[in-house]
Order: sequence, then structure tokens, then C-alpha cells
Amino acid sequence: MAVLRVSALHKYYGSVHAVRGVDLEIPAGEFTVLVGPSGCGKSTLLRTIAGLEDADKGTIEIGGEVVNHLPPRSRDIAMVFQNYALYPYMNVFDNIAFGLRSRKTPKEEIEPKVRRAAQMLAIDHLLDRYPRELSGGQLQRVAIGRAIVRSARLYLFDEPLSNLDAQLRDEMRSEIKRLHQELGKTMIYVTHDQVEAMTMADRIVLLRDGVIEQAGPPLDLFERPASRYVAGFLGSPAMSFVDAKVIAAGDGLALRLGDGATLALPARRSANLGNWVEQPVVLGVRPEHLGRANPGERAGLARHSAIVELLQPTGSRTYATFSLGGTRAVAELQAHDVSAINEKIELSIDMNRVVLIDPATNRVIS
Ligand SMILES: Nc1ncnc2c1ncn2[C@@H]1O[C@H](COP(=O)(O)OP(=O)(O)OP(=O)(O)O)[C@@H](O)[C@H]1O
Ligand SMILES: [Mg+2]
Repeated sequence: MAVLRVSALHKYYGSVHAVRGVDLEIPAGEFTVLVGPSGCGKSTLLRTIAGLEDADKGTIEIGGEVVNHLPPRSRDIAMVFQNYALYPYMNVFDNIAFGLRSRKTPKEEIEPKVRRAAQMLAIDHLLDRYPRELSGGQLQRVAIGRAIVRSARLYLFDEPLSNLDAQLRDEMRSEIKRLHQELGKTMIYVTHDQVEAMTMADRIVLLRDGVIEQAGPPLDLFERPASRYVAGFLGSPAMSFVDAKVIAAGDGLALRLGDGATLALPARRSANLGNWVEQPVVLGVRPEHLGRANPGERAGLARHSAIVELLQPTGSRTYATFSLGGTRAVAELQAHDVSAINEKIELSIDMNRVVLIDPATNRVIS
């Protein structure tokens, strides 16, 4: 059953049209990540669902009931904000207990609930401290504790980890994920960080300028992006986009790049590209579609010689930048595949996995 159903939702701030017709259905127990660049309307959508902003058009249903007219506290939603918003003059226990008390939870239920939430978040030793006596990560846990201690139909998180350093963010990411598995609650999590979206989501909803560009399981969006925007947003280092033309080559088709290089397309890819012969396309290549060529390779791999322009070792892998048809592209290589810049290497491109985009519409063709 859908816990949340948003239909044709619009929200304006004066002349700014921040949410432009969003339809969204969130099934019970799902962890949905709303992701997109700064200003695309993530917070506005979340705040409108929570009732902190009024919807200008469209409906919001929670548990089958239209809630447009209900104030936030009657919507049965718990929310965690980016800036924690803890009460400075209350200790951790009271901060976590606040929502329970204000909803008239019986006293004898409050203490075990607060202790259980604090235990799950490993802050049970901090219950007597005040917010000013806590680190950023601890503050964040208190804010999350305050939300999860309540039993709500829907839990909303708006970039809760953005104030934390990289390592703590990693840690908290897995904790929130674990918390979701343990509690089985329906959660919507907002971030502009595509890695966070990929690693945490059951389903990603990718927003662009107030509309949903594509929604689905992370790997679906990653492997089958609907547009250049989705293809370029997910993945790090990002996909490279190279101008090309589809040409007939022997029995099949190939791509001709700006510098004259030709990349043969496998038969499976050629089958639905008949109408594109002599037409321009954009080739989208991820770093992991490019590797060092080996002798006797399987079908579907195109070869390309390249001069390495930049090397970025990460330890286990090395990212090598080079020119592909006049555009910078990045290959994810084994740590010892290349040793120096300006080295000439033979790359193989996995033409079964690259994406082809219509430059006129920016939609993925194949
Ligand atoms: N209170 C407001 N008054 C006027 N315009 C606003 C207001 N809040 C947001 N906006 C505008 O609405 C659009 C969407 O903003 P929103 O805060 O939802 O973006 P976001 O996706 O959450 O971005 P970020 O990742 O930076 O948090 C932006 O153009 C923003 O400038
Ligand atoms: Mg925001």
C-alpha cells in the first residue's frame, strides 16, 4: 500500500515555480532518496509533504487520506532537518523526549522509548549532556533520535548529514540504513549527493528544476538512464560525453568520432539504430566502461589508443584522463595499468554498456 501519494503537486514562492507538477507514490517500508542539484526543489517538496509549506495545486495523501488542509502536527510525520534544531536548554534525554511529551505520551512509556532510541544510535551515555557539549555527529544522532522515537507513518530527512565530515558521514549513512532495516519504517531522504543516493536508496527519485526526471531502483537509473542529465548526474567520476556520428561499417554500424576514430557497435546495439545512420549522436562512456585492452578480448569491445593526460590513483584503482574524439574522458584502470602521464596505452571500450544519446532532445536512444 502507498503510505504517501503526491499528485500533480505545484508550489510557488512568488514568481519562483519551485515544484512543477510532481507525481510520487511511496510504498510502505520503502527508503526513497530524493536527489538533485542545489535549488531543484527537494526541500520544498519535502516541506510541502510535511505541511510546513502549503501546496498551491495538487494533492498530498498520507495513508489514503488527503492531508492538504492538515497542519504539520496532524499529518503523522516525523522530520529531521539539516540544522538539527535542538533545544539548547534541554539535555539530550529531554530533546529526544520532546515530541513524545508534546503528544501526551504516558510518562512510563517515555523513558524506555528514549533509552531504546538512544541505544540504537549509540548515544545512551550522553543523555544528561546539553547540545553545546556534543560533537556534530552526536548532535545529528540526537536529532535523528528525536524523530525515530515517535511512531509516525512517514519519516522525512532533509540532508541530515551535510554538516558532517566525510568519514562521519559514511558512518552515519550506514547507521541510518541499518536503522531503516531494523525499524522497517517508510522514509524519504533528501540529499544532493549522488553517492549517498546510490548507496542508501531502495528507490531514487531524481529531481530537476522542480520535476521528476527519472525514478527507480539505483542500478536501473545507473545502467539505464533515460536522459543525458540522469546519466551525467549518477556516477563518480562522471560519465564522459563524446560527439559522434553513426556510420555504416561492413555488415554493421559503428560510431565515428570527431578525430576520425571509429568504434564498432555490437550487432545487438546496431539492430535498433538503423534510422540513425549518418546522424549525430552523443556517446556516453563511464570510467568503468573503459579498461586496458588485453589480447584476445571478447566481442563488443572497441579499441582506442590514448595518451594519458592525468592520473588519479585511489589505491585500489587509478583514474586516467585522456582524449576521446576531442573530449576528455576518464578510464578506471587497475592500479598498475599505467605508470606515468604521456604514456600511450591501448584502451578497450565496452560498447555493450555505453549509452547513446540524441543530441537534439538529450534523451537516451539506446
Ligand atoms: N522561502 C523561499 N522564498 C522564495 N524562494 C524560495 C524559498 N525557498 C526556496 N526557494 C526557491 O525555490 C527553489 C527550490 O528551492 P529548494 O530549497 O527546494 O531547493 P533544494 O533542492 O532543497 O536545494 P539545496 O540542495 O540547495 O537545499 C529555489 O529556486 C529556491 O531559491
Ligand atoms: Mg534543500
